Amino acid sequence: MVILRVSERTLDEVSQRLKIHEGFYDGFEIEFESLEHPEREDWGSFFLQAKGLRILSIPRTLVHHAGPLIELSRTLIKRRLFDMVRVPYEKNQSRGTIQDVLEEEAHADGVGVIRSIDMQNIHGENEVDTYPPKLTQGLVKEKDVLHLTLNPSGWRELGPFVERVILDRRKEDVGIRKSFTLEGPYGFPFQVLASRLGSCFTFTSPQSNGPLVDPITLHTVYRYPSFGPQTALFGIIGNPVLHSRSPHLHNRGYEALGIDAVYVPFPVDDLESFFSVARKLKIKGLSVTIPHKESVLKFCDWCEDAVRAVGACNTLVLSEKSIKGYNTDVEGFLEPLKRVFPTIRGVNALVIGAGGASRSVVYGLVREGARVLILNRTASRAETLAAETERTLSLSEGTISAGPLDREGIALVKQLKPDLVVQTTSCGMHPKEEEDPFPDLSFRGQEVVYDLVYAPKETLFLKRAKAAGCPVIYGDAMLIHQAFRQFLLFTGKEYPRQLIEGI
Ligand code: ATR
Repeated sequence: MVILRVSERTLDEVSQRLKIHEGFYDGFEIEFESLEHPEREDWGSFFLQAKGLRILSIPRTLVHHAGPLIELSRTLIKRRLFDMVRVPYEKNQSRGTIQDVLEEEAHADGVGVIRSIDMQNIHGENEVDTYPPKLTQGLVKEKDVLHLTLNPSGWRELGPFVERVILDRRKEDVGIRKSFTLEGPYGFPFQVLASRLGSCFTFTSPQSNGPLVDPITLHTVYRYPSFGPQTALFGIIGNPVLHSRSPHLHNRGYEALGIDAVYVPFPVDDLESFFSVARKLKIKGLSVTIPHKESVLKFCDWCEDAVRAVGACNTLVLSEKSIKGYNTDVEGFLEPLKRVFPTIRGVNALVIGAGGASRSVVYGLVREGARVLILNRTASRAETLAAETERTLSLSEGTISAGPLDREGIALVKQLKPDLVVQTTSCGMHPKEEEDPFPDLSFRGQEVVYDLVYAPKETLFLKRAKAAGCPVIYGDAMLIHQAFRQFLLFTGKEYPRQLIEGI
């Protein structure tokens, strides 16, 4: 059940919020503190007529400063303007507090109780041991809800919560419905997956205005409520990763092919903690992005050749027995080229940059038989990359040329007469839009120019190439093609390419 959390102050604002999100929520929660004049008659009639489950949320501060406001909330409960009341509860709550009184009154008036507990510091052993029998005491089966919240600072805090609280199925609380909210970037995937993981409520915030997933994105990108406990789970790990376009791409593919799966972004700061629960979450496949492409290698039981050759892995396929590593960046890079060059063999290629992205490019080009020159601001890095790739592919020394991004480099380019120029540095990428990695390089006009930067779509470097008459390939082509192979590895099915226009 999707609950929209609204914190607007006036009746008009609340109505507006609900209207915008109509069809995307099953109930709403009003924060008592934010309401202006909740005692007014028109609020009463509004709530009585409102569609969906109506929840009144009593904030923690209100409980601590009892008085007229508590009296008012008791009146609202008595008038049964709401179906449920959310009461903030302490982990080690003693009996007989205002919370108990509110809960008892709600029960007496036929209003359900959501007992809401902040689980910060759950990793403290004793606190975990006290969960949940004590916490459910006094709640009514099938009517009330035990609601647990956490704003995790990272996976060291999140991991134990997922393992011991979300995935824990203790006998004692059978019959008491459970729900949870994990706030902040690390909590995001669990906001999306709440119902799949047994939470009776999925709490959401209005679009572009809150700490939680918004219900429209939940439905349109993640296709709630089509997923349940049996739905296959895929995702992307990185940090930061919430801006990634991969969830849009993969989820659209599942929808088009009728595959029961969902793909979510997992911001991960600590791989050990993440992998200790990844299997228990039954994650079947993961895309891997910066900064984890190298560090995930040690979690792999098996890797394809390209992973070992490049030293980076961007795709993991997980089963009960093993974690397999793949590198789809290499094919993702080559695929768009194959449309331009009938064969890569014999192509003269200039690669600018010698960082992580360049490794996949150089490996792919050389493996396919191109003649490669690597130029880098720090020439020694270019030389190291050339030597390493030669060793990996058992080629003789000097097969791959290397040099600096200066006059010496220009001379090497003149000798090579490149058919292809690949730009692999971060120059031109937001927020470095004004940067050109090699302004002294002039284009002949025949060479194909491929820039791996995809945000923005057209870099300064590509603009220069286009102005000189060169055919160009945009970075998003690589991004999409690496995802196609990932999709195949994850699902065993070809991505429905017609979904992507112009590729
Ligand atoms: P990535 O994994 O994205 O490739 P990286 O490993 O940090 O990132 O590599 C960044 C690449 O961009 C390097 O080749 C870097 O050159 P140096 O090795 O000399 O650092 C290159 N780069 C970054 N900023 C640059 C600039 N302003 N001009 C030229 N090259 C630049």
